[in-house]
Amino acid sequence: MSDCNVKTSSELETLLATRRDGYGMPRGFYHDAALYAAEMRTIWLGGWLFAGFEFEIPNPGDFLTITVDGSPVLVLRDDHGSVRAFHNVCRHRGTQLCRKESGHVHAIVCPYHSWTYSRQGELVSCMGMHEGIDKSKLGLKAVHAEVVAGLIYISMAAAPPVFDGLRERFEGTAKPQGFARARIAKVTEYEVEANWKLVWENNRECFHCVQNHPQYVKANFDVYEEAYASEAIRQKMADAVARTESKWAAQGVAITHAKGGLAPLPDPDRNTWYAADRTVMVEGFDTESMDGRRVAPLMGDYQDADVGVLRMRTMPNFWVHGSCDHVVAARLLPAGPRKTIVRGYWLVDQFAREGDDYQLDRLLPFWQLTNEQDWDICKWQQKGVDSFAYEPGPLSQRKEYNVDAFIRWYLKQMRAGGPSGNAARPSSRAT
Ligand code: FES
Ligand SMILES: [Fe+2]
Repeated sequence: MSDCNVKTSSELETLLATRRDGYGMPRGFYHDAALYAAEMRTIWLGGWLFAGFEFEIPNPGDFLTITVDGSPVLVLRDDHGSVRAFHNVCRHRGTQLCRKESGHVHAIVCPYHSWTYSRQGELVSCMGMHEGIDKSKLGLKAVHAEVVAGLIYISMAAAPPVFDGLRERFEGTAKPQGFARARIAKVTEYEVEANWKLVWENNRECFHCVQNHPQYVKANFDVYEEAYASEAIRQKMADAVARTESKWAAQGVAITHAKGGLAPLPDPDRNTWYAADRTVMVEGFDTESMDGRRVAPLMGDYQDADVGVLRMRTMPNFWVHGSCDHVVAARLLPAGPRKTIVRGYWLVDQFAREGDDYQLDRLLPFWQLTNEQDWDICKWQQKGVDSFAYEPGPLSQRKEYNVDAFIRWYLKQMRAGGPSGNAARPSSRAT
């Protein structure tokens, strides 16, 4: 396929139909500006996005901000202790209200002409304007917000997809990790020079791991597909499962993915866009660190280092790896057809203190290296798929089943007009 520039829904449908079953996506999918705009409307404004951690805004008036495809959103804790989200846009002449990444407000005061909003989003003052303004109609426009297991999700859709399934899955599986009782040890913002779909395709297979992630493969069984693993590897995994099974049950945690290879996600046939699984680690690894030894105090409800790895993912913008002593998370935000901003988080227990309880030079390297190895892969893949000579090759059914599932999920969302079928009409509810 040559370059494309979709403008109408029939052109979009024609483009979507160019993907051959079992193959990667054609060239235009990775850089076409009009397709990118359609993706923002359908998938990014139509679904649920991870915005941040609840512990980042513990008190009324604490806020964080996030901008999705040029639309700034304010996430804050209101006077009653609930997490709310609003379009971070003044109802007078549109100025962005809160400008910092995070902070605290007594009230939300517009820096332009001082219109003032309560922490519930109501317009309480429009200084100097007395010409019959009905303040009750000019509250901040609300954005849907949900909190689950200490994670904050927002949706700008008018009617977002149902959240209940994710809530049920995450609450049970994630609770022992103690996300609500954590703190940030380090945040790194990466500018990945690749389309957001390349970042996900990379995330959804470990075919590349042996060649690119020498540290990661020492700790995890991801590279071994169950049906194709050698007898020796299968025995090692079975031993790890047996060793941990009864101990884990006593701590309220359970192995949910006891096989090699990645757990399946997404599932386009069942519309599954989230997953939470716990996997065993290779013997000798208590955590995802360079030498496998603990790098921080135990987190959450864990009483023992041997809890494997908690892996959680939500399409299209979040994943987590939780070890016994720390969490590494990634929040994706597209910044154009060829750029994705990935915010990398390292979390530890809320009482852990740098220098005393953990050292960054032991906490960070495992995932710093793994992340940077992946971003480099994505950058070079982008350069290749930009070439007029690129044509999609076949995917491995053994090792790239989740890449195929991701592409099918993506195509399904795009054809349906987004997860809730209403993405062209982002929410504009006034408070
Ligand atoms: S733009 Fe906000 S008060 Fe005027
Ligand atoms: Fe990778």
